[in-house]
Amino acid sequence: MTPSTPSTLSTPATPVGSGLTPRDHFLFGGDYNPEQWDAATRAEDVELMLRAGVDTATVGVFAWSWLEPAEGHYEFGWLDEVFERLHAAGIGVVLATPTASPPPWFTLAHPDALPVQPDGSRHTHGSRDTYAISAPAYRDACRRIARALAERYGTHPALRGWHIHNEYGSLDHSDHAAAAFRRWLKRRYGTLEELNRCWGTAFWSQRYGDWAEILPPRQTQYMHNPTHALDFRRCTADEFRDAYAEQVAEIRAAGSTAAATTNFMLPSWNHLDHWSWRPHLDAVSIDHYLDTTGPSGETHVAYAGDLARSWAGGHPWLLMEQGTTQIALGDRHAHKAPDRVLRNTLSYLARGSQGALFFQWRASAAGSETWHGGMVPHTGPDTARFESVVELGATLRRLAEAAEPPTEGPVVDADVAILWEADGWWALENDGLPSDRLGFPEAVRRTHAALWRSGIPADFVPADADLSGYRVLLVPSMMPVSAELAERWQQFTAAGGTVVIGYFTGMTDERLHVVRGGYPGALRDLLGIRTTELHPLATGEHVRLSDGTPTTHWSEHIELRGAEAELSYADGPLDGLPAVTRHPVGAGHAWYVSTHLPDDTLRRFLDDICSRSGVTPTVAGLPDGVEAVRRRGRDHTYLFVLNHGTSALHLTGGERELTRDTDLTAEPVRVPPRGVAVVRENTKPVRVETAY
Ligand code: GAL
Repeated sequence: MTPSTPSTLSTPATPVGSGLTPRDHFLFGGDYNPEQWDAATRAEDVELMLRAGVDTATVGVFAWSWLEPAEGHYEFGWLDEVFERLHAAGIGVVLATPTASPPPWFTLAHPDALPVQPDGSRHTHGSRDTYAISAPAYRDACRRIARALAERYGTHPALRGWHIHNEYGSLDHSDHAAAAFRRWLKRRYGTLEELNRCWGTAFWSQRYGDWAEILPPRQTQYMHNPTHALDFRRCTADEFRDAYAEQVAEIRAAGSTAAATTNFMLPSWNHLDHWSWRPHLDAVSIDHYLDTTGPSGETHVAYAGDLARSWAGGHPWLLMEQGTTQIALGDRHAHKAPDRVLRNTLSYLARGSQGALFFQWRASAAGSETWHGGMVPHTGPDTARFESVVELGATLRRLAEAAEPPTEGPVVDADVAILWEADGWWALENDGLPSDRLGFPEAVRRTHAALWRSGIPADFVPADADLSGYRVLLVPSMMPVSAELAERWQQFTAAGGTVVIGYFTGMTDERLHVVRGGYPGALRDLLGIRTTELHPLATGEHVRLSDGTPTTHWSEHIELRGAEAELSYADGPLDGLPAVTRHPVGAGHAWYVSTHLPDDTLRRFLDDICSRSGVTPTVAGLPDGVEAVRRRGRDHTYLFVLNHGTSALHLTGGERELTRDTDLTAEPVRVPPRGVAVVRENTKPVRVETAY
C-alpha cells in the first residue's frame, strides 16, 4: 500500500475514557494491519468485519516505517483513511504506538540502540523487537512518534484507546543498559558500601570500588553473582515501565484522554514486574497463546485470565490477543478447533475480560508471520473458519448484559489467593541453586491447575497484598522472603487464615542472603519447623511418603518446633521424618510442603486444605472436564459452564441461558460435548450433570 496524502480528519469528539473496558458489551476484533493489503482487500475487510460483528481493530502495532518513513517525516494519509473507514462503519480503533519495531532508517542511524546480548553480540535489524530500551535515541524517537500520533488521532471519535508498544520484553546488556543499571543501583543502595554488602561481593573478589566498574550480568566465566543478576532484572523491568509512562505522558500532553494500556505477554515472558504497573495503566491487557494441547490447555487459559484480573485489582481487563487456529508448541504447532476458540474465549470473559481480540484480523499472505492464523484465513471468508468467527461475534453480542461489571467488589469472587511475584521467578533463574528443578512458573501453574480441576476460584496476589478478604494463601514458590513479608503471613495466619508454603520458599531474604540458623529463614517461627539439611532429589529419584505417595524433585530434613507432621517420609535417608507439616498459629494454620507432590495428590491435598478452611467449589459435583466460573455483573451473576469433556451435560436451575437465549425456568439445557452455556443466575442453584 502506498502512503497517500493526508485526508481531512473528523471533528474531535468527546474522550473515550473507558473505551478499552466498555460496560455494555464485549469488544470483538483484533490486530488489523491494513498496510499489508491493497485497496480492494481493505474495502473487503470492513465489509467482513461488519459481517462478523467486529467492533474493535487494533491498528498500527508494527507500522513505524509506514508512519515515519524517514526521521521526522510523517505519512499519516493511509492511517487517516483507515480511521475514517473504520469510523464510518462504527468500528472503534485501538491505536498502537509502533515502538516495538523501529524502522531500518532508525537502527542504521543509531546502531547503539540495537540490543546487546549477554555474550556481547549486537542484534541487527531484520526482525522486530530490536531495540535497546535504555538507549536515549530510542527513547526520544518513541516519545516523538507517540506525540505525533496523539496530536493527530488523540481525540478522534473512533479512538477506543491507546495500545502502547507491543509486549515490552527485549532484554539489553549494552553500555546504555549499564548506565541505566548504575543509576538504578545508586537510587536503590545509595552507597557502594551498601551495594557490596547486599550483593555479597566479599566472596570471589567481586568488591566494587567505583560505580563505573559495575556492568550488566553479561556472559562470564562461571556463575554470576545472584543478587547482581536479580537486580538487573528488577532494573530492566523498571526501565520498561518508565518507557511506557513516557509515551503516555506525551499522549496526555497532546490532549488525548483515551484509555492507555500495553499488552502483557503471557505466560512464558517474565520481563516485567506487573504489579508495579497498576498505577500507570488505565486497563490491564494481555496476550495469551496456548502452549499446550489437551485439557492442560484449558488450565492455561484460566491461569492467564486469573492473572490478568488479579493484576487489574479484581476489575475487568482486556484480552488483547489470542490465536485463532494454532497452538504454539515451541517449534511445532497444533490445530486449534473453533469449539476450543469459543470455550477459551468464554473462559477469558468469565474471568473478567471485557472482550475477545485476536492476532490478527486477516492472515498475512507474506512476511514473517505468513503461517499464523487469522480471523479471515488465507482461503477467504467462504470457509468454516470464518463462519465460526461470525458465530463467535454473534455469541458475544448475546452475552452483552454480562459485560456490565458489579458496582462494588471484584468481577470474580475468590477465597483463595496464590502468591505471584516476579522476584520469585527471577530468583530461581539464577545459577548455583541446589537443584535445577526448582521452577517458579511450574510450581505456581500446577497449584493453580489443581484448584481449577476442583472448580475452586483463585486470585493471584503480590507480596504486599491486603490478605484480609481471603481464607487461604498458597505460596507455591517464593525463594526470597523479607522479614516484613514473613510478618504479614504471620498476621494473616494468626487472624484465622490458612497459609500453605511450598518448598524452597523463604530460603533467603530479599537480597538473596540465607537467614542462618535453619531453613526456611524468616519462616521458621510461622511454620514451627527448622530444616537442618536440604536433600534435593535427582531426576528419576523418588521417595515414598507415609500414605504411599511417591514424591520427586526435593526433600528436606525437618525438625519439628511446634508443628505436627501430617505426612512423613517413609523411605530413604529421611525415613520417619516430617514431610508435610501443620503449625497452629493463633486462630489459623501454617502448612509446609517439603517435597514435590504428584498432581493428583496435590489436588487432593488442596481440596482438603480448602474444605478445612470453609472454601467450596463454585458448583458442587461438577463432572470431570467441566469448568464453571461465576462472573459478577451489576444486577446478576453469570455462571459460565464450559464443557471440555466428551459427554453431554444436563443443566438445570438458573434463570436464562444466554448463548441459546433459553428460559431455564421453563426447560433445562443440554450442553453438548465441547459446548458451552452461560447462565443468568437466580435463587435456584444451577446443577450440572452428565446427560445419559
Ligand atoms: C504476539 C504478538 C503478535 C503476534 C503474535 C503471534 O506475541 O504480539 O504481534 O506476533 O504473538 O502469535
